[in-house]
Amino acid sequence: MNETTPTSYILGHSASEIRRLMLQGEILKPITGRLLREAGIAPGMRVLDVGCGAGDVAMLACEMVGPDGSVVGIDRSAEAIVVAQQRAAGYPQAVFKAAAIEDFVDDAGFDLVIGRYVLVHQTNAVALVRRAVELVRPGGVVAFHEVSHRHPFASLPIVPLWEQVGDWLFTLFHMVAPHHDAADKLFSIYTGAGLPEPSLFSETPVAGGPDAPHHAWIAETIRSLLPRLVQLGLTTEAIVDIDTLEARLREATVAAQSQIIAHAQVCAWARRAG
Ligand SMILES: C[S@@+](CC[C@H](N)C(=O)[O-])C[C@H]1O[C@@H](n2cnc3c(N)ncnc32)[C@H](O)[C@@H]1O
Repeated sequence: MNETTPTSYILGHSASEIRRLMLQGEILKPITGRLLREAGIAPGMRVLDVGCGAGDVAMLACEMVGPDGSVVGIDRSAEAIVVAQQRAAGYPQAVFKAAAIEDFVDDAGFDLVIGRYVLVHQTNAVALVRRAVELVRPGGVVAFHEVSHRHPFASLPIVPLWEQVGDWLFTLFHMVAPHHDAADKLFSIYTGAGLPEPSLFSETPVAGGPDAPHHAWIAETIRSLLPRLVQLGLTTEAIVDIDTLEARLREATVAAQSQIIAHAQVCAWARRAG
């Protein structure tokens, strides 16, 4: 059996999940962009996006490597690859392939390998990073952006519904995500994979007001996870009332003039020895 045995991706790849990934992509773009900049992305580079999903990180990388660079996006979900190909049609330097990183073969070597929200879904995150190291050329960079499930959501003034939704996600990820604490262990995951000590930073999405996309992002996350939440007895469909959840989150936040805080994002990068 392969060391990084795939586990099923707990959020699925339905149409609403793809919408969720796009909303999430907009919120996370500045953070992933900072990671790519600090990791030294530059025009002309060859980049691999591992677990590319709907292609948001790959498209961001395309903008940063420019027309002389190239980006390969891989995902073990063929459905996700079809969506990524459609969305990135305007980026001729992007190529997408349905493949798990464990089976992906490339002889040319990448200048930079990036993965976002991928390690949390691995049974063996160290093995996946080790595989990323093999795919990067000597002197190239390995960068990962992960979501921390260490702290529940917060809000002030408190919006009980926002915090309730955060608690469902917090409990569910602790129960079912194979590596729910990957974001908070990036240092040891990197060194365990044979990389030097990584550079690290963390940012947390914070929002307020009616136009924040965070309500839709989190409501769509709950939609994708609803069958698992119900199956595990964490809530019921009647309590969640999924088709009104986004509006109720927005209304409650706006009524309280609250500032809402989501999961901390943790980013790490390190350079393979030259
Ligand atoms: C939460 S999604 C993130 C998608 C994208 N990186 C983003 O941030 O929008 C995780 C994706 O990683 C893919 N994935 C998980 N493990 C993988 C592996 N070992 N090789 C390739 N893809 C993988 C899943 O199929 C899923 O599409």
